[in-house]
Amino acid sequence: MPVVDSLMQSALRSVSSKQSEREMVWMQLQQMFENIQTTHLSELFGADSQRAEAFSLQVNSLFLDYSKNFISKDILAALIALAESYDIQNAIHQMMSGVHVNVTEDRAALHTALRLPETESLMVNAKNLVTDITEIRNKMFNFVEKLQSGAWLGATEQAITDVVNIGIGGSDLGPQMLTQALKPYWNTNLNVHFIANIDPVQFEAVTANLNPETTLFLLSSKSFTTSETLANAQLAKQWLENKLHTKQLTQHFVAITANPARAIAWGIAKEFVLPFWEWVGGRFSIWSSIGFPVALLIGVQGFKQFLEGGHDMDKHFSNSPLAENMPVLLALLGIWYRNFWQAPTHALCSYSYSLRRFADYIQQLDMESNGKSQQPNGDMVAKDTAPIIWGGEGTNAQHAFYQLLHQGRHFIPVDFIVAQNTKAKDKVQHQQLVINCLAQAKALMEGNRALQSADVSINQMQGNKPSNTLMLEALDPYALGQLIALYEHKVFVQGIIWQINSFDQPGVELGKKLADDLTNIVNGKEAKEPVDSSTMQLLRRINTASIN
Ligand code: F6P
Repeated sequence: MPVVDSLMQSALRSVSSKQSEREMVWMQLQQMFENIQTTHLSELFGADSQRAEAFSLQVNSLFLDYSKNFISKDILAALIALAESYDIQNAIHQMMSGVHVNVTEDRAALHTALRLPETESLMVNAKNLVTDITEIRNKMFNFVEKLQSGAWLGATEQAITDVVNIGIGGSDLGPQMLTQALKPYWNTNLNVHFIANIDPVQFEAVTANLNPETTLFLLSSKSFTTSETLANAQLAKQWLENKLHTKQLTQHFVAITANPARAIAWGIAKEFVLPFWEWVGGRFSIWSSIGFPVALLIGVQGFKQFLEGGHDMDKHFSNSPLAENMPVLLALLGIWYRNFWQAPTHALCSYSYSLRRFADYIQQLDMESNGKSQQPNGDMVAKDTAPIIWGGEGTNAQHAFYQLLHQGRHFIPVDFIVAQNTKAKDKVQHQQLVINCLAQAKALMEGNRALQSADVSINQMQGNKPSNTLMLEALDPYALGQLIALYEHKVFVQGIIWQINSFDQPGVELGKKLADDLTNIVNGKEAKEPVDSSTMQLLRRINTASIN
């Protein structure tokens, strides 16, 4: 047999043995699911006094208790075997070393490089990326210092007091969530505002009380082509021109983008562009110049601590055995519930006013990354992929949707997130917040079956609802860096197991294209694609003049 043929044969043999190894583990896990599904979670605790310790893990500032899940040591071992059968460790190495893991867009996904210490290097195509990253980050820090010190002057020589971030999706959710979360660490009098929606109501509401002389706009857009952001940028330009009666607005705009040429063509001065790179996905971009609003409010040192937290999670993720690897464990528990227990949704409940937007942020990260049904080669995925991510802020959510968590007919695994310590003055009230979180996790797990009170017979709560509890030492920049990187890596591992590309978003692109086409119609032009009668009927209601 020719050498090439024999190599091909052995490659095919190894692919099919990998395939059958995976199928075996999926089957084994299905069997385990069938065996454990009639067991109550509290029985698992009853059978093992060491259960909490056995299923807990500390990584620097993060403590994860995952004991309130339908797992045993054997199930965990099978889940780990599942991860091994997909060569997770190799996949991690490939992502972090700059292989084009975003195969459909032929790009690397190197958000982890953004949090490498300056003293390290990452050679990609004979270039040390850390040098470029540090240079741009220092430019951003320099802008921070200029703004914080009052040295950044507007067109009328007045110091900037208000900064408005115009961006959407990953160019909005991260900076917004994180600036809110880190409010106790703000070290400036500057005010930061956010405009994302193309709805002009938001632009008008945000700018209503702003002074154009002292306002700086950040145009945050990786592509610099997103219609919402460009429309709002245009409103900002008009607003400044009308109020300041000048077109000399250079120092009122900074562009944050991976497409500097477009930003410059729009009118941004070259020195006011904070670039980043194509290899940073929008929903992973908070670590890049997109994090500028965060750095502006918490300062240079705070932002460095945030990066350090992310980097420490990266080290843990790439160096720890799978069985002691926090992102891998969270990913596998998610797979367990999605693919075996058929849980269609996953709730994130943060017991923290500061983290009130955390579920929104993770919703984009998870659902835009893994909400897919096709593999990069076009094949349909055989398994269910991303669950619907939703959630809210404890304790408020207890008085909103928890009734359904406790007694509804849905099966909804929950991640509880809470901080041990607070910067708030009232430590006793903070304790009450934490206690509420723990009480809810316990109630979901046990229900009220064990209680003897009279109303139990009509108000039955079966419990048996699984949850993870993630306890942060404090809600500080370092711990939040760890927390965000943890969820990024969880999503990545799940994408590998589902064999999808977690780094593209073709579904979102379609909606953008169709919006452009409908704009053609409203402007009296020909649509490129046929338009259905329902859409035409609705379009006529907003613009009867030009549509027939
Ligand atoms: O929603 C699609 C998307 O491309 C996101 O991935 C991204 O975060 C958002 O739009 C905004 O894109 P840009 O930063 O290019 O304006």
